[in-house]
Amino acid sequence: MPIQVLPDTVASQIAAGEVIERPASAVKELIENALDAKAQHIRVEIQGAGLEQLTVSDDGDGIMAEEMSLALVRHATSKLRQIEDLDRLQTLGFRGEALASLAAVSHLTLTSRHHQASQGRQISVRGGKIVHEQAAGIPPGTQVAVHQLFYNVPARRKFLKSETTERRHVVNLVSHYAMAYPAVRFSLAVDGREALRTTGSGNCMMSWWMYWASNSSERWWLSIPCRINDLI
Ligand SMILES: Nc1ncnc2c1ncn2[C@@H]1O[C@H](COP(=O)(O)OP(=O)(O)O)[C@@H](O)[C@H]1O
Ligand SMILES: [Mg+2]
Repeated sequence: MPIQVLPDTVASQIAAGEVIERPASAVKELIENALDAKAQHIRVEIQGAGLEQLTVSDDGDGIMAEEMSLALVRHATSKLRQIEDLDRLQTLGFRGEALASLAAVSHLTLTSRHHQASQGRQISVRGGKIVHEQAAGIPPGTQVAVHQLFYNVPARRKFLKSETTERRHVVNLVSHYAMAYPAVRFSLAVDGREALRTTGSGNCMMSWWMYWASNSSERWWLSIPCRINDLI
């Protein structure tokens, strides 16, 4: 094959694969964005192991309406201006790649209201292109809803493990962040059922929705490294 420069869409899909390998890596990036935005409550919802739908909502600082589309551009970040900033970086992210990557390989809807704004904005993107934009009446904070992850990258879908394994990656990831940030209230819903909820009280206090565990043949929740008297 002769050498050719790849079209932007193909280059973006390949670059996206380095940041977003599986549903759990999408959830990781979105949780880190919420933590960087000083969220006190982070809610994660997944359907179909996160491939059908995954949503991360937070009550953090939010994004200004005029910056919403910029947030989806590769290497666009509010966390870094020059290379020296790397030395004093306090945030989890700084490369400005997560939202652009996710937007390139899914149907993504970003809804956000900046904490100083009177109303929010919603942008819908299909394979990296904005297809719809409107005002949104929501409380301050941000919600990223990702539908049909990897719909346009069949090779990436083939690389994924079973639904059970991908779901377990998400559950483990959320529980680890919940334990690493006990002052933040985390909740996780899997296929419409509450799988995890923490109080955000500052201790490793978790209540597991037992009906989820008892209705499930999976026993992944037993492996959560949380002391029994920290559970509520
Ligand atoms: N949940 C969020 N709350 C507030 N701002 C956000 C959120 N998610 C993303 N942003 C904004 O969008 C920008 C781009 O996000 P991202 O692509 O993850 O890059 P990075 O986190 O490396 O800056 C962030 O720098 C931030 O300004
Ligand atoms: Mg980020």
